Amino acid sequence: MSQRKQTLGEFIIENQQSFKYTSGELSRLINAIRLAAKVVNHEVNKAGLVDIIGEAGDTNIQGEDQQKLDVFANDLFIKAMTRRNIVCGIASEEEDDFVAINSQDENNQNKYVVLIDPLDGSSNIDVNVSVGTIFSIYRRVTEVGTPVIIDDFLQKGNKQVAAGYVIYGTSTMLVYTTGDGVNGFTLNPAIGTFYLSHPNMQFPEDGQIYSVNEGNYIHFPQGIKDYIKYCQMEEGDRPYTSRYIGSLVSDFHRNMIKGGIYMYPKSSMNSNGKLRLLYECNPMAYIAEQANGRASDGFTRIMDIEPTKLHQRVPFLCGSKNMVKKVEEFMEKAK
Ligand code: AHG
Ligand code: MN
Ligand code: MN
Repeated sequence: MSQRKQTLGEFIIENQQSFKYTSGELSRLINAIRLAAKVVNHEVNKAGLVDIIGEAGDTNIQGEDQQKLDVFANDLFIKAMTRRNIVCGIASEEEDDFVAINSQDENNQNKYVVLIDPLDGSSNIDVNVSVGTIFSIYRRVTEVGTPVIIDDFLQKGNKQVAAGYVIYGTSTMLVYTTGDGVNGFTLNPAIGTFYLSHPNMQFPEDGQIYSVNEGNYIHFPQGIKDYIKYCQMEEGDRPYTSRYIGSLVSDFHRNMIKGGIYMYPKSSMNSNGKLRLLYECNPMAYIAEQANGRASDGFTRIMDIEPTKLHQRVPFLCGSKNMVKKVEEFMEKAK
């Protein structure tokens, strides 16, 4: 008989000692995310059954229609972290500004802030395609017991303490890193427990999948166009396969397991691409690097970019190391 798999709860407790600044606070925070993820999972699964799909009528700060489940997931994650009083602030893709949580209270010794994309790929809900949640955790830069300020959130990705995502797919998984590799846990929905199913996840160094919205091809920079043509050329292990779900979490997850590259470049329509540095690119870049992958905007390492705004967008090229290096070469040549 195979050995019993470790649960996420057990894994968190066992690894608590190895966190750099251990006080149990980070463990409690990941626990809160685990619980919120289970509730969102339950709602996402019901999306086709109840009248919860469709747009809520609001428009978020990026001018996009919010779907009801976006709002639900956003409220739920914020509540989960507020109620348990384990962070001092949250910034969300769905909120115009960051939310301070009792941070002015001198008894509040919480030192972490969370940045979150509560529901990624939300346009896929209506058509029963996988969506996700992305989170990123930093230590505040200001003193505990004082109000959090924007500087606590505008930190470079290389300062992240932990990052992860939940994928609500054919099975639901929570994948995260605290800077010591990447581990994936699969939810057994019958008993509501996550089990360690994918220990020490690694991007293959080379891959044969490229994921990009090719409908935007004519608007892409020359370097990206040249790389796409390279992917399609018949030579060596090419042509590569094109796979694009339109949920960053799902495209990334597949590419990490099979080997591939995800690209959301800038275009003549969006001068900085579409994806948000703080809620999407930095956490995915951290996970990628921890899994031996690579992430850049074409010229600069994503995690070295200095953020200037909460909702900042950047071009995003991420995945198997040698594939990302190759597209960077094309970008450099076409500069
Ligand atoms: P969100 O649902 O959080 O707004 O994110 C959607 C993002 C990302 O998940 C996906 O890869 C990309 O937008 C798809 O954009 P296009 O439809 O422009 O290809
Ligand atoms: Mn998103
Ligand atoms: Mn979203």
